Amino acid sequence: MAGLKTVYTKEQRFLWKLQNERNMDVNELKRLSVYIYRMVTSNNIHYSQLSNAGYLHHHNVNVAILAALLGINIEIEVGLIKRMIFGCLVHDIGKLWTIPTILDKPGKLDMVEKGIMDTHTMLGHSVISKFTQDEVICAIVRDHHQYFTSNNNPEIDKNDEKSICAYLCSIADVMDAMLSMRCYKDVLDPQSVINELIKYKVTDEYINMVKNIIFPKEAQKVAKTSN
Ligand SMILES: [Fe+2]
Ligand SMILES: [Fe+2]
Repeated sequence: MAGLKTVYTKEQRFLWKLQNERNMDVNELKRLSVYIYRMVTSNNIHYSQLSNAGYLHHHNVNVAILAALLGINIEIEVGLIKRMIFGCLVHDIGKLWTIPTILDKPGKLDMVEKGIMDTHTMLGHSVISKFTQDEVICAIVRDHHQYFTSNNNPEIDKNDEKSICAYLCSIADVMDAMLSMRCYKDVLDPQSVINELIKYKVTDEYINMVKNIIFPKEAQKVAKTSN
């Protein structure tokens, strides 16, 4: 898809500027969010079209696209989807300040390292809230790991747009983290994603949406004809 390369490049430039110049162009990110929204609504996007190389700027874009696809499926209004895309593009910005020896460790993190890694949400939140007061964007950065970490995760508040958008970002985050490369793991198969989401009691409605995005199209055809 021609547009994807442009988005990955723009996101990389944004992260570079943020880290090196402590500067974030909010309007450019808004334009990028609109661009992604148009791309998602005018193409039939499947996970296989995204990069699974695992770079942070690819991950942010993938999560934005995947969350947008889920949001469109559950018929969130357009303005909110665009704000959610923006939030997903910056959801992991806290990792820009996580020490590389932990971020790029080619193995499992120990307890202390994991504790440091976990601070990327609060760190990111303190950075993003200097640039925007949008509650949806700030909640995505702060809360995008709270739904899939233990058996005691909070329920989503279906009447709260912040909660819904952070939840969609969380699902998209799990999808891309499992289906793309990391220094500590290889690409996993789509069924592992489904198993992980079921483990955290994600409802059938979302599971079916995720299946449509990540399973190979041929496998979906076979599944439909055998039903
Ligand atoms: Fe994260
Ligand atoms: Fe992430």
